[in-house]
Amino acid sequence: MLLSGKTAIISGAASPRGIGLATARRFATEGARVAILDIDADAAADAAASLGKSHIGIQCDVADKSSCEQAVARVIEFFGGVDILINNAGITQPVKFLQISAADWDRIQDVNLKGVLFLSQAVIPHMRGRKSGSIACMSSVSAQRGGGIFGGPHYSAAKAGVLGLAKAMAREFGPDGIRVNCVTPGLIGTDITAGKLTDEMRAKILEGIPLNRLGTADDVAGIYTFLASDLSAYVTGAVIDVNGGMLIH
Ligand SMILES: NC(=O)c1ccc[n+]([C@@H]2O[C@H](COP(=O)([O-])OP(=O)(O)OC[C@H]3O[C@@H](n4cnc5c(N)ncnc54)[C@H](O)[C@@H]3O)[C@@H](O)[C@H]2O)c1
Repeated sequence: MLLSGKTAIISGAASPRGIGLATARRFATEGARVAILDIDADAAADAAASLGKSHIGIQCDVADKSSCEQAVARVIEFFGGVDILINNAGITQPVKFLQISAADWDRIQDVNLKGVLFLSQAVIPHMRGRKSGSIACMSSVSAQRGGGIFGGPHYSAAKAGVLGLAKAMAREFGPDGIRVNCVTPGLIGTDITAGKLTDEMRAKILEGIPLNRLGTADDVAGIYTFLASDLSAYVTGAVIDVNGGMLIH
């Protein structure tokens, strides 16, 4: 098993069809104990219970610094330590540039970008003390091509910000034995996109995907597992595309 004896925090992992919960399941299968942090407290508890007794679900708003600090303190108390952090929580909004209000901008940046800052700030002092840790952050193809399918320009900006932030973290904390990497998925079938894709849109999107299918949450979970495990021990500051070839460059 790739994550035997490891402990992991995954944010935004309560949604039943989401990338976070698929990752939590995969981590558990690989031998890790998992803390599911999500803004939805009941869903976080249910998701953790679905994995088994050694896992925990905790309410956490990643956009709130003290909420992150409290959640991480609980995880450390429960598990005794944290080896892996997956900054996965995110929200989107399908609007055009001129429609973005100040409140929309703040909400999208707060969850997608500031959330990575706050949750990482809560975990890194602990990882630093142990001279070891792996952090993976959720960006998106939207950051790379200036728009995905459903995210507005403020979402692209936030996810592009994640790339810069994660690379800076990789530089700063490499000497402490902490690796920081990003994943950039294309279109993955989860609740974030559910019900928004017409057959016509789907056919058009598939024309641009060499592997000729949309991604699944498990496709991303596999890459998070690689980044969390020692298979990627010499990988930091990297960005891994999970997009079926949607953006070959
Ligand atoms: N689905 C895609 O096509 C796709 C593509 C690229 C990137 N992403 C990113 O992947 C991540 C997971 O998305 P998903 O597709 O699984 O969507 P999802 O909506 O199923 O999951 C998002 C989860 O984040 C949680 N969340 C929302 N705001 C939060 C907050 N403030 N604090 C803590 N948790 C919060 C939600 O409750 C939910 O459980 C997101 O960051 C998303 O932007 C998704």
